[in-house]
Amino acid sequence: MKIKTNTIIDKQKKGKQSFVKEELTSDVTLRQDKEKIFYKDKSEKTAEQILNLFKNKEIDKEWSFKGCKTSDTGKWTHSYHRYPAKFIPQLVEKLIDEYVSNENAHINDPFMGCGTTIVTALSRGYKASGTDINKIAYLITKVKATPIPPEYLNKKIKQFSTVVKHLEDKNELFYKEVESYIPIRHIERINYWFTEDVKIKLGKLLKLIYEESDLTIRDFFTIAFSHILKNCSLWLQESTKPTRDINKKLVNPYDLFLKHLKKMERGNNSFYKIVPLKIKNNINKFLNIQIGDARIQPVSDGEVDLIVSSSPYVTSYEYADLHQLSTIWLDLVEDLKEYKKQFIGTSFKKCNNRTLRSKIAMNIVNTMFKKDSKIAKEIETFFIDMEEVFDESFRILKHGGRCCYVIGNTKLKGVDILNAEVFAESLQYSGFKIDRIIKREIPSKILPQKRDEKTGRFANNKEANYEAYPIEYIVIGLKG
Ligand SMILES: C[S@@+](CC[C@H](N)C(=O)[O-])C[C@H]1O[C@@H](n2cnc3c(N)ncnc32)[C@H](O)[C@@H]1O
Repeated sequence: MKIKTNTIIDKQKKGKQSFVKEELTSDVTLRQDKEKIFYKDKSEKTAEQILNLFKNKEIDKEWSFKGCKTSDTGKWTHSYHRYPAKFIPQLVEKLIDEYVSNENAHINDPFMGCGTTIVTALSRGYKASGTDINKIAYLITKVKATPIPPEYLNKKIKQFSTVVKHLEDKNELFYKEVESYIPIRHIERINYWFTEDVKIKLGKLLKLIYEESDLTIRDFFTIAFSHILKNCSLWLQESTKPTRDINKKLVNPYDLFLKHLKKMERGNNSFYKIVPLKIKNNINKFLNIQIGDARIQPVSDGEVDLIVSSSPYVTSYEYADLHQLSTIWLDLVEDLKEYKKQFIGTSFKKCNNRTLRSKIAMNIVNTMFKKDSKIAKEIETFFIDMEEVFDESFRILKHGGRCCYVIGNTKLKGVDILNAEVFAESLQYSGFKIDRIIKREIPSKILPQKRDEKTGRFANNKEANYEAYPIEYIVIGLKG
């Protein structure tokens, strides 16, 4: 069967993978070719064996990191910017400790988020590469991964703070100039989320930031600006969902900004101390990150030693919505609707006549279909997208390299969404052997969120009826 599809993946994969025929005309052909090749592997587990493997899995207490304090999880540059469902760095460090011995190692994360894996890799002197489709995630990662000489940063912050403190007294002319820094195409959204007074103050701050000529420093300030937006807006503080709180007590943006800059400065200084000299001297040689799709890594075949990543979840966070304050203020996106479609796990994405390989996934989709055909389609699209991510992981890893995907299971409309089991099965179809499954508890103080049982979406603790991921898995595939 040949179905004409024209996805970016089709275009990119041609010529990249030796086992894929040159004249691919469809995803379906690609999938059948791969199945033929990889089903021959004797160590491959059936769907049933995988389900049993997970059923009998005990929690491994060593991976709970129960003793970790906020100062440990937020060390170095890790508390520059809030980010939903981020890793704790200790988890990445432990995986690196267990699996990396090569001093010139290369570590990759196709779903960088706020860059926990990337920062950790650099802190150990390794090469780091990765992607995120979320433009603000890319900028956060870039800034967190770039150590700045402390004296220089201190000088820049001092100069900037002096000017910020005088912003209140700026005259009418300055006010007019500021208006051009408030992105007009998003003005309705900005007016919805910000009071007039705050909007003008933020415009003034942004104007100053964009006048900074050193791009590294400008990005550093931009991330501080992006981080304070939630606190300055009418966004309900304890919610990750875009909910307005018109009675919110607002704080002066200038005070918030300067306070956060100081915190970031302390983070930079401690990061600077531990990052090896070779990285500080030549960051561009070691850091290779892009705004882009997880299925297209900026890396040649067989280059990577270890992948540590956590994917989005199906219909949980709409990352594009969650980061909309930064997206509108920094004017990152022209067409928000098109942008949203590029996110994996979103309800805006379409399946495009591709077929699932995982039998466990098919079962979940069929069960859901009886309850809600729209959600069933979304789940199907999510798992197919993830299968393509795993193909790319296989391509970029060295022989003997591993990919570690951190994922939790959940329930939607009463149907168990066995993400971890599907990931394990799907990794095999991409050519991996299942090397290890780690079951870990997430201690409640670092548990990211709770879920609303009806919608499956993340919610704040008051709205949710059960814990989202008290348990999660690290599914580890070996390229043997
Ligand atoms: C669970 S988060 C990763 C968090 C990360 N481990 C950290 O420590 O910050 C998943 C990420 O996947 C990103 N994402 C969603 N769709 C993507 C796609 N098509 N390609 C690349 N990244 C994508 C989201 O923007 C989000 O940052």
